[in-house]
Amino acid sequence: MLNKEIGSSFYLLDDCDNELIALKQNKIPMSFDKFTIYHTGRNAYLALLKEISNKQKINKIWLPSYFCHNVINNISNNFNNVDFYYINPFRLNAKLNIEQFANQEDVVILNNFWGLTTYSYNLNPNDKPIIIEDHSHGWLSKQCIKSKADYCISSIRKTYPIPLGGITWQPNSNFPLNFYENTTDKFAIKAWEKLNESMSQKRNFIKGNSENFNKIYLSLLEEGESFVSKSNSYTKPNDSITNYIKHFIDLDPNICKKNNLQYVYKHLKQSDHFKVIKRRGYIAFGLLLVFKDENLFYSFKSYMILNNIYPANLWPQNDLKSNWKHLFNIHVDFRYSLDDMKFIVETINNWNQKNYGQSN
Ligand SMILES: Cc1ncc(COP(=O)(O)O)c(C=O)c1O
Repeated sequence: MLNKEIGSSFYLLDDCDNELIALKQNKIPMSFDKFTIYHTGRNAYLALLKEISNKQKINKIWLPSYFCHNVINNISNNFNNVDFYYINPFRLNAKLNIEQFANQEDVVILNNFWGLTTYSYNLNPNDKPIIIEDHSHGWLSKQCIKSKADYCISSIRKTYPIPLGGITWQPNSNFPLNFYENTTDKFAIKAWEKLNESMSQKRNFIKGNSENFNKIYLSLLEEGESFVSKSNSYTKPNDSITNYIKHFIDLDPNICKKNNLQYVYKHLKQSDHFKVIKRRGYIAFGLLLVFKDENLFYSFKSYMILNNIYPANLWPQNDLKSNWKHLFNIHVDFRYSLDDMKFIVETINNWNQKNYGQSN
């Protein structure tokens, strides 16, 4: 018997698995040579920021105030000149006045929120900060492919069933950056081992080959992620890891998502409790639901988990000034079929009906 579970982390896939066959159906032609591969997104950030600071003085590194806490912690631990600019991630066509807070000696990190954000900035080339765009949640979105930033990064392990994987590139160049640190990072190696083992255990469970897997898979995942947090380098992954990661990077994850989201958007009933975050002409990272009421947000989470759907909270403890700020992402990637989408829609609609009339 198969064990269905929607959301949460990836499991290992074989060539004959339908999930991988679905993912491999769409490829984006690309020059592999322009990308530099790292173990993680955080390692990729470190590589860029260290290399930039080796070449020039960085006065400030500007991060969005609404952002991944792992990245904030990692960059703040390595640099003492981090500052934050306010951004509401739900305003998808962001009019960010970069020149009002950053200058020539600064680095500004712009996040492509869930593949939906476009930034219109037109900076004076003689007096502009260095722009790094993060496409971790929008890998191969049109903004990612057509980026005009100075540098880009993506934590591609958020998109593909791989234990680790981060990437950098320079949109205006076809050459890789090749910023690597010549040391051994035993934490990154351990992280790969643990996460690979965790994904293998999870595969056994999903494919129905093991029982009582839960504890083993989760503790390995936790261990692996704690090694990721300890890894504080930008070393070159070994050839076998690099080749493993390279097998995935031209596979377009967005076609399966588009089909699945189309179904969900059409059948999901309107709710007083959440809004669906989407944008015409763009494909979202997943099904994004933003809530106003925190209690209802957690009630929704519990109900979903009871039904084996695991929504991810992106990102807790944020400083958003808007009333609607509690966000869940539910994965709708190549692992899932339209039947799975039907199940997600029915479960959410049921929750909604049960909570009809609850105060907001
Ligand atoms: C937007 C974003 N960028 C980068 C990262 C860092 O990626 P990694 O976990 O591979 O270091 C994360 C999450 O951790 C993220 O959410």
